[in-house]
Amino acid sequence: MKKSLIILAMLISLLLSSCSLSQEKPEATDEKVILLGYAQLGSESSWRDGNTKSIQEAAQAHGIKLYFENAEQKQAKQIDAIRSFIAYRVDVIAFSPIVKDGWDIVLGEAKAAGIPVLLVDRGISTEDESLYDCFIGSDFIKEGEQAAAFLKSHTKNSDKVRIVEITGTPDSTPMRDRYNGFRQELGQDAKYEIIGSVSGDFLRSKGKESMKALLAQHKRIDVLYSHNDSMTLGAVKAIEAAGLVPGKDIMVISIDGEQKAIDLLRQGKINCVVECTPMLGETVMGLAQKLVAGEEIPRVVYSQERVFTQFDTDLETLPPRGY
Ligand code: AHR
Repeated sequence: MKKSLIILAMLISLLLSSCSLSQEKPEATDEKVILLGYAQLGSESSWRDGNTKSIQEAAQAHGIKLYFENAEQKQAKQIDAIRSFIAYRVDVIAFSPIVKDGWDIVLGEAKAAGIPVLLVDRGISTEDESLYDCFIGSDFIKEGEQAAAFLKSHTKNSDKVRIVEITGTPDSTPMRDRYNGFRQELGQDAKYEIIGSVSGDFLRSKGKESMKALLAQHKRIDVLYSHNDSMTLGAVKAIEAAGLVPGKDIMVISIDGEQKAIDLLRQGKINCVVECTPMLGETVMGLAQKLVAGEEIPRVVYSQERVFTQFDTDLETLPPRGY
């Protein structure tokens, strides 16, 4: 009897110790460091630099190991980076597609390797929606519409409004959607005429060159609609060099909300800035952790943004923009 009691006690202790072992296992899984490969498209603007900083800081804050590649404005380099992440067997791939087309093959390879993909900031055009798990960023069509809505509400008493547009990188989703959203909101009203539309590739230098060329080409320009702040900063310089006053002689409408553009809005040289936030890092890392934990995530996460105008009463007290 005594012997069988001893055996029973030994069995119970063995059982208990195996329970605590099996309880330790998930803890060990929880502590597994997530590997995230991020293929950034380049460093074309202050917005992009702010975006890179946000991704890097959030990865560190979340204890995620980040493999970061900068494709320097080349789609082929972004594709190479994604392939290297697949070869390295990262847990999650995230990237900002420079253009919308041409991703199906490489994303098919990621899918075949069982690696989830997050599209950050820019979208892609594909027939196969299963090639990525979530888009995180701004609603670019809405941004174009908001730019046009500001224009319409401040040109009610004008008979004719001559608009020039400086667009972003050809065939990127912000370029396409900001172009279309603006036109959709303007509608068929014949008083609005887009007399010139040229690409400035989201670069400050090209924004300046483009505006200089547009000013040389058109005798009268009432409005500049620019697809990002970097190009707007260049364009403002070109307007001033032509002896005109930006914000007065020519209404200036921009997109992004970087610090330098908000400063020009305060000075009256820009009239409206539609916000597009680059601060996407926190959301990206939170979603990556959920994906690795096997949790469901939404298909789309849009940023919460506002429109800044010269008429806002809080311009002086706005916190620093951080980009
Ligand atoms: O994709 C977002 C756009 O890209 C930003 O508006 C622009 O500044 C950046 O270069």
